[in-house]
Amino acid sequence: MNTRPIGIFDSGLGGLTIVKTIGRALPGENLIYFGDTMNVPYGSKSKEAVTRFSLAIAQFLQKQNVKLIVVACNTASALALPQLQKQISVPVIGVIEPGARKAFDTTRNGKIAVLATEATVRSLSYPKALTKLNKNLRITQQACPVFVPLIEEGWIHPAAGEKIIADYLRPVIKSGADTVILGCTHYPVIKQRIAKQLGKNVQLVDSAQAVAEKVKAFLIQTDQLNNRRRGCLTVYASDDPKRFKQLAKNIVGRTLPRVLLKKLMP
Ligand code: DGL
Repeated sequence: MNTRPIGIFDSGLGGLTIVKTIGRALPGENLIYFGDTMNVPYGSKSKEAVTRFSLAIAQFLQKQNVKLIVVACNTASALALPQLQKQISVPVIGVIEPGARKAFDTTRNGKIAVLATEATVRSLSYPKALTKLNKNLRITQQACPVFVPLIEEGWIHPAAGEKIIADYLRPVIKSGADTVILGCTHYPVIKQRIAKQLGKNVQLVDSAQAVAEKVKAFLIQTDQLNNRRRGCLTVYASDDPKRFKQLAKNIVGRTLPRVLLKKLMP
């Protein structure tokens, strides 16, 4: 048993989709979430910048005495995970490998498509993780740079979004993929709309469940699971916590108790 919290971070709201799933799978765990609203979006930034932001956040979380850090961001997992694992003394888990494995287990025709940020697509992290599992998989990648700003603006429902989704999905549909990875933790927010356009024969994979299972397995294995009572969630944002709290409601389905401002200036 270890009652220390789990640290989770993302560039903004997206990682809350992971918080929600980890909260359900591990209700006794105390969670600390950090949304880097000052630097969002990460997807259009350089590797150097994303690594710098990620390290500053991980160091902050480490100071909060976390027992484990979950990088609830595909872009940071793609660009900064090895650096984080080298410099941070607690275990650091990323989202790409669990998501790739889940997609591999899901596909029937061996054709997998990845929707992700520009930086994640450029890093080739998903194709690398997938071909490690089976080198015969056919992989299509599609960058969707407009999704994150739309979601961060709270533009989750407007009809204009349908046309943008359709444009991004055209090459994915053409590829014949039967499995599509939501390779950005923001995208589950518009999952139903993506699913509707892809049709019933395409399976959507979001890494949240796979990550929650990995965290649970790790905590059980290392005898650190906290199941004494209901855990609490503490949320930090690096800019405008009030706005973050308002928009977070759309994602977690309830009002967050409090969002604290924590400016990090790496
Ligand atoms: N939600 C993040 C991801 O999974 C970051 C998106 C962004 O900030 O561009 O990649």
